[in-house]
Amino acid sequence: MNIGIFDSGIGGLTLLHQALVMLPNEKYIFYADTDNAPYGTKSSAQVITLVDNVMHFMTEHNCKAVVIACNTATAAAAETMRRKYKIPIIGIEPAVKPAVRESHGKRVLVAATPLTVREEKLQNLVKRVDDAHLVDLLALPRLVEFAERGEFESDAVEQYLREALSAYVLEKYGELVLGCTHFNYFKDTFRKILPKDVHMIDGSEGTIRQLAFVLERTSQAETLRASEQKNDTSVRYFSSGREWKSEQELAYIRQLHERLERMRVL
Ligand code: DGL
Repeated sequence: MNIGIFDSGIGGLTLLHQALVMLPNEKYIFYADTDNAPYGTKSSAQVITLVDNVMHFMTEHNCKAVVIACNTATAAAAETMRRKYKIPIIGIEPAVKPAVRESHGKRVLVAATPLTVREEKLQNLVKRVDDAHLVDLLALPRLVEFAERGEFESDAVEQYLREALSAYVLEKYGELVLGCTHFNYFKDTFRKILPKDVHMIDGSEGTIRQLAFVLERTSQAETLRASEQKNDTSVRYFSSGREWKSEQELAYIRQLHERLERMRVL
């Protein structure tokens, strides 16, 4: 059986990337809902309908669990989907809790999409963990557009981020939470702008750890005998229902994985 991982677009590859490192023996269906991206500027009701369509696709494709690799879709739709579908649904959310813990009294900036910032789920999370009122929320909708058109490093990206961050005294911050999976592609530009000691954090590792835990608990984890080789056809990629199969499409995916690997260590 498969594990479904989906996002509105290429941001979700961050979680697939992490899953391939931590759970290399599984088979994955990666689904980017590119026809409907971005999700972050839509209403919750619209996002719930879109996520429902993807969940339907995942159950038709023999998925034993689904990772919502999109903070926006998790905030707007995870609870509704858990009531509707029987398979485990694991969602990513902004890593606010570890950020507050690790910022050692300095401020925490949480960057996400406009819908995630508006949603009650994030507001409640902040209320729960931010006793000292150190957390600020910032919506960065344009980064998703840049990422979807493959523009990761450019003057326009840098100018956009410099402008958005100019409202904050960055020296007062200890952590920047990347609360949208698309934002991981821009860690090099963030690094350029942020003071050296501001650390960047996102929820992908915790989410895949949670996936591993759920698979173990439901006895669904795949284990290979030492002699078996991991085969590299263990991921199928879909864009709003159409499978990416051409050499050109798969080469682009490889490039994105390589970029994410470089960003992982920043
Ligand atoms: N990557 C998604 C997230 O983590 C949102 C991108 C979008 O706006 O579609 O929130």
